[in-house]
Amino acid sequence: MEAVSQTHATRAHSPTSSPRPSFTPSLGDDPKGVAAQSPPPPNTSIRQTSGKGLSMNVTTSERSIEAQSRAKRLKALTSTVHEGVDRSIMSASSFATIDRYKRFLAIQYLFHRDVAALYAESRLQAAFPDLVHRCRLPLVIADMEDLGVATPDAGSPIFIAGGPVDMGTALGWLYVAEGSNMGAAVLRKEAHKLGLTDDVGARHLAPALEGPAPHWRAFTAALDAVELSDDEETRAREGALEAFAQVQAHVDARLD
Ligand code: HEM
Repeated sequence: MEAVSQTHATRAHSPTSSPRPSFTPSLGDDPKGVAAQSPPPPNTSIRQTSGKGLSMNVTTSERSIEAQSRAKRLKALTSTVHEGVDRSIMSASSFATIDRYKRFLAIQYLFHRDVAALYAESRLQAAFPDLVHRCRLPLVIADMEDLGVATPDAGSPIFIAGGPVDMGTALGWLYVAEGSNMGAAVLRKEAHKLGLTDDVGARHLAPALEGPAPHWRAFTAALDAVELSDDEETRAREGALEAFAQVQAHVDARLD
């Protein structure tokens, strides 16, 4: 599947400069400190070196990130665009009132609808054995029903059920969709301050039974284990950037 237009990839490179809002997620079951890891130095440039081997003049930080897992490389690559999304969502006071939260819910619906077909794809299910249980679109829809949010008008989702899926592209998008569970630990607390719960209105932000950090580690272990060609690896990076750009586009269209 030609998953997304070039526009998305281009948007993803727009630089953002402000830091991510300084929330401290409470991940009590995070023995390895996943949630506390710092983003890479802002001048680290992964795109210039990844997939092509390391040149003699790469910095120490670039070399160490390049040597890390695929998940960590994707995290480093997307840290700036992630900060942009965080900032847009939080500066729109998305958790200040139920009405604001409803707008955030519409964005979540559109993004999880974009990726829902990936969770039903057989090659991806083989790579991620619990994939079918990870799809959050049904929970987002239930939250919308709880709060009487109408289904937003939208065109086709990015991935269509039954369509061909490029493994690299799909992994990049799945990384973003699954990674957003980590931020959900923060957002859930904000939603609960509005009177929402894991059973009403904020189901899609509830942690997995085993806890968000083990849930994430299981995903990243499977993500790191998939063998990709160099071209697929490149498309995984592009897919992750495209996914964040798509979220940002949904945010820009619906939050002010
Ligand atoms: C729908 C929008 C969002 C998406 C798609 C998203 C995506 C992600 C991804 C992919 C990760 C995993 C990073 C890793 O590889 O470890 C992550 C982690 C995280 N996100 Fe988000 N996120 C979103 C919104 C937010 C918001 C609004 C906040 C809070 C302001 C937030 C805060 C965090 C935090 C605290 C983490 C864990 C620590 C870290 O990796 O920095 N996220 N998110």
